Amino acid sequence: MYIAPSVLAADFANLHNEMKRVGTADYIHLDVMDGHFVPNISFGFPVIKGIRKSTEVPFDVHLMISHPLQYLDNCKDAGADVVSFHVECDDDANEVIDRMIELGLKPAVAVKPGTDIESIFPFIEKYGEKLYMVLVMTVEPGFGGQKFMPDMMNKVKALKAKYPELLVEVDGGVNEETIDTCREAGVDICVAGTAVFGAEDPADAIAKLR
Ligand code: DX5
Ligand code: ZN
Repeated sequence: MYIAPSVLAADFANLHNEMKRVGTADYIHLDVMDGHFVPNISFGFPVIKGIRKSTEVPFDVHLMISHPLQYLDNCKDAGADVVSFHVECDDDANEVIDRMIELGLKPAVAVKPGTDIESIFPFIEKYGEKLYMVLVMTVEPGFGGQKFMPDMMNKVKALKAKYPELLVEVDGGVNEETIDTCREAGVDICVAGTAVFGAEDPADAIAKLR
């Protein structure tokens, strides 16, 4: 299991040091929120660019924003590796994925809890291996520290049954109790905010989750 600590739960007064504490992670998950697609605002690309210098771990940027297309150049410039955008956003998903590929970013499509997983099948089929992963939200996007929604594992199972090679990430409420359910469903990458940054020893928390 790959573990992606979510910076949303980190100490924003000391992000350089927080990056050092999660140096064993597989990805660093960075939640960008616009106060429009979700009812919260987090941080933007200058912050991501700033902490890019503090770690070598790949950056998994999660765009919870209505208009991802106009920010993809900023994403690239900030040092993003994988970039997830929501299929529910206001831009054309094909245009978003095409532009990410052009920029050399690894595209990922994210789905909110209320969205049918079938809605992203056409993109998986169209882009094949060019689509890096699918992100299945296991909470309503917008806030850390919420309760894991086990029903979402049906989406993961459906994806894995149809596309066994596809990387599947889950995000929200993953901890030592809920991660077994994720593994059983076939999840590859778990985002964990509170469970990692809230732990006394984040490296130990990562190892246990993994
Ligand atoms: C929620 C964010 C998550 C969040 C997860 O909108 O996308 O990445 O940080 O936090 P935990 O692991 O605390 O539920
Ligand atoms: Zn996220």
